[in-house]
Amino acid sequence: MRKFLTTTAVALAMMAGAAQAAENVEVLHWWTSGGEAAALDVLKKDLEGKGISWTDMPVAGGGGTEAMTVLRARVTAGNAPTAVQMLGFDILDWAKEGALGNLDEVAAKEGWDKVIPGALQQFSKYDGHWIAAPVNVHSTNWMWINKAALDKAGGKEPQNWDELVALLDNFKAQGITPIAHGGQPWQDATIFDAVVLSLGTDFYKSAFIDLDPAALGGDKMKTAFERMTKLRSYVDDNFSGRDWNLASAMVIEGKAGVQFMGDWAKGEFVKANKVPGTDFVCIRYPETQGAVTFNSDQFAMFKVADDKIPAQMAMASAIESPVFQSAFNVVKGSAPARTDVSNEAFDACGKKAIADLADADKNGKLFGSMAHGHANPAAVKNAIYDVVTREFNGELSAEDAVKELAAAVEAAK
Ligand code: GAL
Repeated sequence: MRKFLTTTAVALAMMAGAAQAAENVEVLHWWTSGGEAAALDVLKKDLEGKGISWTDMPVAGGGGTEAMTVLRARVTAGNAPTAVQMLGFDILDWAKEGALGNLDEVAAKEGWDKVIPGALQQFSKYDGHWIAAPVNVHSTNWMWINKAALDKAGGKEPQNWDELVALLDNFKAQGITPIAHGGQPWQDATIFDAVVLSLGTDFYKSAFIDLDPAALGGDKMKTAFERMTKLRSYVDDNFSGRDWNLASAMVIEGKAGVQFMGDWAKGEFVKANKVPGTDFVCIRYPETQGAVTFNSDQFAMFKVADDKIPAQMAMASAIESPVFQSAFNVVKGSAPARTDVSNEAFDACGKKAIADLADADKNGKLFGSMAHGHANPAAVKNAIYDVVTREFNGELSAEDAVKELAAAVEAAK
């Protein structure tokens, strides 16, 4: 009897193990800030509700630089996670290596082709096959302003560079840090997205999408760098290495006036129970109204053992459900990755994000974010990061930065 029980227990345990293998996803991501973790929780709970357990593989580091290093090590060791948060050209690079699975069946069944915008599909598909499930659309040319500080400054939202500088001077006079910033290359580059875009959508396209040496090495680019130097004069002494969410906290707490950051920053404000229009103001970086530099977080699905594929496909399907798209993106600060999701549950900033994206797309003013891997593959992106960060930190003059930028991009192409 005893032997029978033991054998039965072992058999049951084995069955449970097999079930777990079939109904488990291991997910590598960099969503570790308060707002990001809250959004991720929406996904975890959704999957758990469908009987799929979650093995968490967080790799801290905004923008995902560190996560991509860990991923490379995992895949090299022959141990790819089920799904990996990934941006733009990185997805295509992994697809090129033959490391990703195939989502065509679920995509066809659910009609993804019709509802996921073309701008995202160019990164979710490789060689005509679906390889990743887009979870959202973020954009980088935003400003997050402390409302009380803005009111003290007269309440006018800056419409151009001079008005922006005047506002920053006013914040300084109020005794707060004008710009909340974290000195990390990807954060410097995020500001640079907006600064370059503000000098013209054609200029942004020539420089970052077409990599035109004349744009990269010309006078307008010099102006962009000069503006970066000016902005640098408004950050505090402790900015170096600071995480982006700590910079958001400075604005939330009224210690700083503004943060230039993608709309994942709004996730931090929402997590802190702050309300747009009351506690903070979201506007586009001056002179970028109507244009959007976007990035889309997607879950790239890696090739996994056959028994893990059903859970992987269930995860992909769950991500694209319109109900989930609304629930997740309300918390994350992003817009849905589908065009047919109601904006009803979104706050004023979310509604603006959704409308801006649609308008920019319609008017040919929607561009991939350089800073977040949607304009170029990693080699070019990193070459740009390097020059931008050195110039921002005063190691290069604007003039030298322009020369280095053109040369570095040429070498990395
Ligand atoms: C971006 C990503 C966002 C947010 C941010 C900071 O690259 O698209 O979802 O997580 O990094 O970590």
